Amino acid sequence: MEIIKVNSYEEMSQKASEILQKQLLEKQNSVLGLATGSTPIGLYEHLIELNKEGKISFKDVVTFNLDEYVGLERTHNQSYYYFMQEQLFKHVDIKEENIHIPSGVAEDLEAECKRYEEQLKALGPVDLQVLGVGVNGHIGFNEPGTDFSSRTHIVELDQSTREANARFFNNIDEVPTHAITMGIQSIMDSKKILLLAFGESKKDAIERLLSGEVTEDLPVSVLNKHSNVTVIYG
Ligand code: F6R
Repeated sequence: MEIIKVNSYEEMSQKASEILQKQLLEKQNSVLGLATGSTPIGLYEHLIELNKEGKISFKDVVTFNLDEYVGLERTHNQSYYYFMQEQLFKHVDIKEENIHIPSGVAEDLEAECKRYEEQLKALGPVDLQVLGVGVNGHIGFNEPGTDFSSRTHIVELDQSTREANARFFNNIDEVPTHAITMGIQSIMDSKKILLLAFGESKKDAIERLLSGEVTEDLPVSVLNKHSNVTVIYG
């Protein structure tokens, strides 16, 4: 595991963008695994800039997002589809057909999980997976206690996760109770993983990860079993 300690959110974002840039220069048709949330926004800003300057291109890039809320249409301003459009996709030269995000409004959600996992298998493996981490150590929406062998599935969100994400909604009652997420094994299948974490609230999860602990009570700790992980934290 490569561990990079930074002093600011900007430094984390800059360093992360250098890793993504290197990945895209080495393999133009990379399959990227992407996360939403506050953590990768700075990284995405850098990628947009690099794309505008002609230093990287997304024209052959394929993306898979980690998760989506159940019940939110793509057009809902808190859906992860909407987030990705606003924070990255609409600003770069990616092809719409190369973007993959699970649908949280599929009629048959179990079938949607299966379909997503099959797409991942067909187009994957993911070359580089970007991850954030929840205060409770979740990755994707795999909450504490999730089986390490899990694949794309429906989860009931922890109350702490709904509270953490309520800041984006008018009130906590509007935060969906369920989500569809890539499983822990689906994430572990990626060739490389880049974990980003910044701020006091993430310290505990990161310290436990770096202690080498491996437990299903702390989903992010599974990364101790992966052979190519970079952690940038501050
Ligand atoms: C988002 C995701 C989540 C977030 C985590 C941290 O796609 O998979 O695991 O990475 O909840 O969220 P932020 O970055 O908002 O602190």
